[in-house]
Amino acid sequence: MSDEKDEMIVTPFEVRGILDYDRLIEEFGTQRINKKLKERIYKIAGDRHFLLERDLFFSHRDLDWVLNEYEKKNPFIIYTGRGPSGHTHIGHLVPWMFTKWFQDRMKTRLYFQMTNDEKYFFNAHLSLEDVKRYTYENTLDLLALGFNPEDTYIIQDIEHIGLLYEIAVEVARKVTFSTVKATFGFDNSTNIGSIWHPAIQAVPAFLHSWIYGRNTPCIIPCAIDQDPFWRVTRDVAEKLGYYKPASIQCMFVPGLKEGGKMSASDPMSAVFTTDTPKAAKKKVMAAFTGGRTTVEEQRRLGANPDICSVFKYYNFLFMPDNKDLADIEHKCRSGEILCGECKQILAPMMMEFLEKHQAAREEVKDRVEDFSASRLRDDIRK
Ligand code: TRP
Repeated sequence: MSDEKDEMIVTPFEVRGILDYDRLIEEFGTQRINKKLKERIYKIAGDRHFLLERDLFFSHRDLDWVLNEYEKKNPFIIYTGRGPSGHTHIGHLVPWMFTKWFQDRMKTRLYFQMTNDEKYFFNAHLSLEDVKRYTYENTLDLLALGFNPEDTYIIQDIEHIGLLYEIAVEVARKVTFSTVKATFGFDNSTNIGSIWHPAIQAVPAFLHSWIYGRNTPCIIPCAIDQDPFWRVTRDVAEKLGYYKPASIQCMFVPGLKEGGKMSASDPMSAVFTTDTPKAAKKKVMAAFTGGRTTVEEQRRLGANPDICSVFKYYNFLFMPDNKDLADIEHKCRSGEILCGECKQILAPMMMEFLEKHQAAREEVKDRVEDFSASRLRDDIRK
């Protein structure tokens, strides 16, 4: 019997229920990243990545094509982004870290879109001041990961609309209301800003080609919930004379509560990058695990890491080494370790991570402008 609360809903605006990623691939019409494709990436990158190894980046569109072009000396640019609706969760950093690895390995340019307009349109409780403040705060989190201003351009939609507008109008003329209604579930009560937003989110995929007057492949690392945007973007691309953007898609980093992804509306469900290490430790100690009801039972039967949020943190972030991960998994399944002890391992990792991250955030504060996409205005082809 399936419960209504278990029903899977995955849209760019809502993710809930029990996630079935195979079904998402099928319903969205994307491809699985298979072993052969992984090996191709590793060969070109000269390095492996645990998020690919563990199939946490698992789905794609045209990744093989992008690699073909790359090998033919037609390199791509990377485009990703963030909707600044609140502080950054630890989970948001995961695809950004992957993006950094990919950018470094492929030696290419990154365009990062902060959709402050989107979050204003879609969230009635947020003021313009809120989304602008979160744009700044989230930018610090991104930059704290060590991006380089020479090839990283941060686009803030509201501030940089002049840079985006010409492409946006070209896109908008090609997308009908009935397409966005069907793709995003909009209806007559949806505000027109939201209806327009898919045009804006398409723009960075074409921006490089437009600025430099040379059609350039683009690949978008993102969580799979963003795929509907890329379907619309891909539909218009060729009509406008651009390549269809490729994408490489990851799973959602789960929260500390049972099931689902992290939720900004429930502060205990996620560790924010701005939490004090002490507060983060408290959240870890209160996290949902796959433990048994009694110590005796757990010693005898072992626990279940498959549903455990603590184990998921090891898997996604804190134990990139497969040996470490296999070791803790074995101890968990065999009943050798209890959940309280396991949390005592995660907590200091989390605290140390936050301390370092917060120091890095401070350090980038006076360099934010160096990354601004406003620099691109001088490059626009005459
Ligand atoms: N819509 C995304 C969000 O709400 C933000 C975003 C814009 C994005 N462009 C992107 C995310 C490209 C991934 C890739 O978070």
